[in-house]
Amino acid sequence: MKIMVVGGGGREHAIIKKIKENKSVEEIYALPGNGGIAADATCVPIGAKDIPAIVAFAVEKKIDYAIVAPDDPLVLGAVDALEEQGIPCFGPRANAAIIEGSKVFSKNLMKKYNIPTAAYEVFDDMDQALAYLEDAPIPTVIKADGLALGKGVIIAATRDEAKDAVRSMMQDKVFGKSGDHIVIEEFLTGPEVSVLAFTDSKTVVPMVSSMDHKRAGDNDTGLNTGGMGTVAPNPYYTDEIAAICRDTIFLPTVNAMNAEGRPFKGCLYFGLMLTPNGPKVIEYNCRFGDPETQVVLPLLESDLLTVMQAVTNETLADCEVRFASRHACCVIMASKGYPTAYEKGYPITIPAEVADGVFVAGAEEKAGQLLTSGGRVLGVTAVADTLSCAIDAAYANVAKVSFDNAYYRHDIGQRALRAGK
Ligand code: AMP
Ligand code: GLY
Repeated sequence: MKIMVVGGGGREHAIIKKIKENKSVEEIYALPGNGGIAADATCVPIGAKDIPAIVAFAVEKKIDYAIVAPDDPLVLGAVDALEEQGIPCFGPRANAAIIEGSKVFSKNLMKKYNIPTAAYEVFDDMDQALAYLEDAPIPTVIKADGLALGKGVIIAATRDEAKDAVRSMMQDKVFGKSGDHIVIEEFLTGPEVSVLAFTDSKTVVPMVSSMDHKRAGDNDTGLNTGGMGTVAPNPYYTDEIAAICRDTIFLPTVNAMNAEGRPFKGCLYFGLMLTPNGPKVIEYNCRFGDPETQVVLPLLESDLLTVMQAVTNETLADCEVRFASRHACCVIMASKGYPTAYEKGYPITIPAEVADGVFVAGAEEKAGQLLTSGGRVLGVTAVADTLSCAIDAAYANVAKVSFDNAYYRHDIGQRALRAGK
């Protein structure tokens, strides 16, 4: 089979490495991929948002199966366009990807179908938003409506901060059109859990849970990032909580999307907060999470391509999806200065003995040398029988990978370790 993977980050590298385990896979193309992914797939310089070029490439190469991994092409309708050419795909169509593409859509969906989430108001008028903030409970959370590279959420600790956030989104348009509509919502507290789930719109199969570490600095300090590391499973996510989530969140969400005429097929990501009043949805993503995928897929024992095809064919109910009862830890190695300013172009050394667990996100190849080219450069994942051993093994491998100006958190998994005791 010829497989095409759209995207070029650590998540895509983890997907590609797993897909390669299937013996029927002859060729994998990554669009655009990156210098590290090039070790495992043929990288093609077509951007993940260039839908016409992606479709033309898939038709020309007679691609048998396409996996669209990032949010942008999904929201832009990559799956719709590929399916029109008869190419089977993993990923939701645009009318379902809107569950991530519009916060207003997802909040209204949850309200309509009684799915637990933070209380909220939607505004498309700045003066009304500012007036509402005069006596809204503080802290409060301000969210831009559309995709904003994970940066469209501001937790405001004071009324003035909240008003500044509203002005920057609605007046200064720091997130462009995403700021035309905003959501102001209740500030929730509790441990956060990420649950990725396979769904073919009939059956929902949650994967092993995970915990992201979003802040740049140790002990959850500093700016929000795309994610500095992950562990799986998440110790806060007990069997009892999993059962509540299945009944009050996962199944109701999939049913709600069906009822709206927007069947969701692909990987649905539930960003949950375990509040004192029960689990609530913080966000939905229409795709695999990054870096969650780098700990979840290494624990998957079943064949990923087979599971993905079952999603496409709507036969997930008959497909075994089994995870190892082990633990995984992924440490992201970033360029110093991320998520703001950082330098690029430093040579990267990845010894062969650790390469299996390294997922490359921001690197390019020049004259046979891998060079840093992004903020998040790569993820180093280790799997072990205990969380503590997985953390130790991941950091032991981090020490073997090197590039100038490397920065990483030293405490990935420590909170999970404390919670698990
Ligand atoms: P998001 O981009 O939606 O994932 O939000 C980024 C982060 O903001 C989440 O991981 C949470 O830590 C935090 N967050 C979002 N919404 C809320 C909320 N209603 N209450 C508290 N924290 C929130
Ligand atoms: N790690 C969070 C996300 O993928 O959106």
